[in-house]
Amino acid sequence: MKEQDFIPAHCDAVIEKGKVTYRSPSNIALVKYWGKKEHQIPANPSVSFTLDSCATTTSISYARLDSKGDDYSFELLFEGKPKEDFKPKIKIFLSRIEKYLPFIKQYHFIIETSNSFPHSSGIASSASGMSALALCVMHIEKQLRPEMTTTFFNQKASFLARLGSGSACRSVEGSLVQWGKHDTKGSSDLFGIKYPYKVHSIFQNYHDTILLVDKGQKQVSSTVGHDLMHNHPFAEQRFAQAHQNLTELKSVFERGDLEVFIKIVESEALTLHAMMMTSMPYFILMKPNTLEIINKIWAFREQSKTHLCFTLDAGANVHVLYPESEKVEVHEFIQNELVRYCENGQYISDRTGSGAKRI
Ligand code: PMV
Repeated sequence: MKEQDFIPAHCDAVIEKGKVTYRSPSNIALVKYWGKKEHQIPANPSVSFTLDSCATTTSISYARLDSKGDDYSFELLFEGKPKEDFKPKIKIFLSRIEKYLPFIKQYHFIIETSNSFPHSSGIASSASGMSALALCVMHIEKQLRPEMTTTFFNQKASFLARLGSGSACRSVEGSLVQWGKHDTKGSSDLFGIKYPYKVHSIFQNYHDTILLVDKGQKQVSSTVGHDLMHNHPFAEQRFAQAHQNLTELKSVFERGDLEVFIKIVESEALTLHAMMMTSMPYFILMKPNTLEIINKIWAFREQSKTHLCFTLDAGANVHVLYPESEKVEVHEFIQNELVRYCENGQYISDRTGSGAKRI
């Protein structure tokens, strides 16, 4: 698929009004996307687990205008209340997707959105939020072009979500999604694909307990962080390493090799933060409690012979990953030893999920 394939050739049907709702989950990257080219094209491929509980639910009520407007016509409600400060981000998103959905100035939209996780949890809602929005607008396009296949629908939803927030393109399907051109068959820089090879049953229902170490606003946004990978002294080696890790993960996923899985996942998390610390200007998003937790995880893993590991996104929170078969021991460990490092003792129990759903 090429970019041009997402520009509709025709849109003959006319729909006056309607309403659509999607619930879209967040995702956690195992191989991290960090660094991008123009138009949200990733500098390296990534792969993630789609989550289940952490999700955004978005509805769009759409009504056809008498004539095409000069600007986008929409209202935005977050958790039931008008939210003016989210509007500029939505406007940028609409301007990026208009080329691929030429009808959007022909409609007035009421966008209502809410998250399953607390707004101030330090959990980024851009992946779940942008994918839910992309799915809703794709549903409208599907009404206008009913011949569209499900494969195309999902690819284009992921393609559009990517234009809102890169990692959002990995939230349309589940439970393992790859984004970015690599040897993996069917992989693309334009959209995420369901991981196409064999995945061992140990990775089914994999757990992710998200320890909320710091619920504050990040000091450095991921947009700024991605940008700092331009002229970064270690950028090329890092991008090559991501490819290598993805290649290595193929047999890890197939064989269910948790020892190697842990090495790759933890190394990816620390490399992501090492890139931040070696950017110019440099910055640190981990907090002292992030490191306390990492050290506790290493000690517990050694002593218990379980297979929990950690990963991090662009923040201080720690994602603790472990197989379903070890959940009892790991929960007990988290309760007894890790919760004390969380802000107000807060954490979220999540697991891998099957992707976005229309509701
Ligand atoms: O989608 P963005 O631009 O917010 O970037 C997300 C980057 C990481 O979460 C750090 C890594 C990833 O692959 O999700």
